[in-house]
Amino acid sequence: MSAPLSPELARLVEAARLVREHAYAPYSGFRVGAAIETPSGAVYAGANVENASYGATICAERSAVACMVAAGESAIARVAVYTEADTLSMPCGICRQVLGEFAKSATVVAAGPSGARTVPFAELLPEPFGFAPPGVGP
Ligand code: THU
Repeated sequence: MSAPLSPELARLVEAARLVREHAYAPYSGFRVGAAIETPSGAVYAGANVENASYGATICAERSAVACMVAAGESAIARVAVYTEADTLSMPCGICRQVLGEFAKSATVVAAGPSGARTVPFAELLPEPFGFAPPGVGP
């Protein structure tokens, strides 16, 4: 059994659990909620948004990242992913790459009704792709 979550992580897991209710997942039926906490303490939540053209689907994590960036923030301290599958769900590969833009020293918690697992983001994406073109800013 895993150790109890800190109050900060428990609050984030609850935000992910709640936003999962809004997932649009008529094709897979697999509803995912994600919540991002920034160093300011603000929380941004996102759910997966599926599409009849399956490849157009947006994962919950990337939905939460878009929400954070739209609010003017660009640093991630913690991420929670909430599902109700039999096994906990860590962010998929594409979401790891997208989170990696903002979350290099973040903590990730995958949670569900029966528990949670916490890992440093750097363990999920140890060697991210990145480049810095000369003279081109964000
Ligand atoms: N999904 C997420 O929301 N996050 C992930 O990290 C992996 C998968 C969603 C996409 C799709 O709507 C459903 O889960 C099944 O793949």
